[in-house]
Amino acid sequence: MSAISSSRTLHRLIYSSRQNIHAADLDHEVGSIVRVSIRNNRAASITGLLLVHAGWFLQALEGPAEQVMTTYRRILGDPRNAEARILGAGPAQDREFADWNMCARRMSDADDAILDTLERRELFAPHTLSAASAMRLLKSVRGVQERTQLSASR
Ligand SMILES: Cc1cc2nc3c(=O)[nH]c(=O)nc-3n(C[C@H](O)[C@H](O)[C@H](O)COP(=O)(O)O)c2cc1C
Repeated sequence: MSAISSSRTLHRLIYSSRQNIHAADLDHEVGSIVRVSIRNNRAASITGLLLVHAGWFLQALEGPAEQVMTTYRRILGDPRNAEARILGAGPAQDREFADWNMCARRMSDADDAILDTLERRELFAPHTLSAASAMRLLKSVRGVQERTQLSASR
């Protein structure tokens, strides 16, 4: 495969990392990650979902391979997270996330409901998830967000 065609292939990378942010600064820092990510990801054709929960980040990034890797390398070097672990990475058939999105406490009522449900699970340990279960979790978060947006716009 030529370098050009492989760089055009859609790639998806899923990773988890630990939050390295003081609790008091979390809302502010998450807000600033959202602002920068909306701008950068749009320009780089990156879509995905970032889940912020219980001291962890879990994120899917999808787009052209080079852009996904450049973005992931920036995140790796960001002191606001640590111990990043790739749960899955490789070519993907289709985008699973239409936009770049985020699920975090206080971002929206839907997010609070999703995170409450996660809290009722025994232990949220994203480092131990397989790529398939991480993807299932992120897709179910996306599903709840979409349904809530639909009912709010009616
Ligand atoms: C958990 C986490 C997820 C992030 N996700 C993204 C992202 O999807 N896209 C992005 O551009 N930056 C993301 N960032 C921010 C980057 O680490 C970095 O601060 C930013 O890309 C720098 O952008 P700038 O050079 O335009 O200021 C994330 C940071 C953290 C801690």
